[in-house]
Amino acid sequence: MTPAAYVHLDLQAARHNLQQVKRYAPDNKIMAVIKANAYGHGISRIAEALTDADGFAVARVDEGVRLRQAGFQQPITVLQGFVCHDELELILQNQLDSVIHNPQQIAILQQHTNDKRQLRVWLKMDTGMNRLGFKGADFNAAYQQLSHSALIQQPINLISHFANADDLLDDKTRQQVELFNQATADYPGQRSIANSAGIIGWPNVNSDWVRPGLMLYGCSPFAGKTGADFGLKPVMNLHSRLIAVKNVAAGETVGYSGTWQAASDTRLGVVSIGYGDGYHRHTRSGAPVLVNGQRVPLIGRVSMDMITVDLTSQANAKIGDPVTLWGGGLAIEEVAHFADTIPYTLLCGITQRVQIVEHPYT
Ligand SMILES: Cc1ncc(COP(=O)(O)O)c(C=O)c1O
Repeated sequence: MTPAAYVHLDLQAARHNLQQVKRYAPDNKIMAVIKANAYGHGISRIAEALTDADGFAVARVDEGVRLRQAGFQQPITVLQGFVCHDELELILQNQLDSVIHNPQQIAILQQHTNDKRQLRVWLKMDTGMNRLGFKGADFNAAYQQLSHSALIQQPINLISHFANADDLLDDKTRQQVELFNQATADYPGQRSIANSAGIIGWPNVNSDWVRPGLMLYGCSPFAGKTGADFGLKPVMNLHSRLIAVKNVAAGETVGYSGTWQAASDTRLGVVSIGYGDGYHRHTRSGAPVLVNGQRVPLIGRVSMDMITVDLTSQANAKIGDPVTLWGGGLAIEEVAHFADTIPYTLLCGITQRVQIVEHPYT
């Protein structure tokens, strides 16, 4: 019997997407971004599928440690770096690479004068995101300080992050690139700036490493497009099954708060998936759901363990029939649109009770 709600991970699709990144960025090394449990897909399985990447990036130290404990030997960059001595120690012990983005981190490093180990770093420049990183003269000063630290492996690598690369009409990306290139022109280290939107949408960005996240999972970073528009394939396929089929008469309402009212007699299906699994509560009536591979509309409120769909177009649908919430045949971008969100949040929102399997149930 199939589980009530499960994700079929298509790891072949993940490998295909990595090859697509190589097509978009043939001259770059690839740091596969697998933070947040590989965007909800499961960090170890995705890391295993992406061993052709030149390295991995995670947000936090514990994610990097987990990858090392699972036996991955590739370079692993911790995008947030460390906030204290203990975290720096974990980074050093596990031979992780660290982003350096604020003076406190440099102060911590300076207390390691007698440390014989070597730490590979990415010095972060804030080119306009105004989140992490050094600006202007502070960037150069930080570079000089790190250049004189025995603990730091030379040359120092250089990193920045796009704020608006998903908007192809916004000049900010070009400005960020220009600022980054100018500020780092005289420095010998490797450079990295582009995320998925940068890789696909801004091909002339010249840096040594690209940092794809979303596109590896088969999704489009651009609103109004799907991964398929860029030759990408969905890795996460979220499935469930019908657990009840019934008729409601015209005028009756369905679900909490009665937000949906039947305009005519309606055949209704109840699907065993809800916000307790990561199906977004704010998904509106009309959102597409696949029942037996055919599109039917979501109706009424999403509850914790169930959603309801209009099965009027499916006279033969019955309890146990397969349901797909997103993945092959139904782009997650489309569902995200009905939930007023982006694919990132849907992917990351999959909860622990959802089984993740590598082979589809038949
Ligand atoms: C610093 C950094 N680089 C790269 C990425 C990957 O971005 P995307 O998933 O849009 O490709 C992220 C994700 O948020 C990030 O924070």
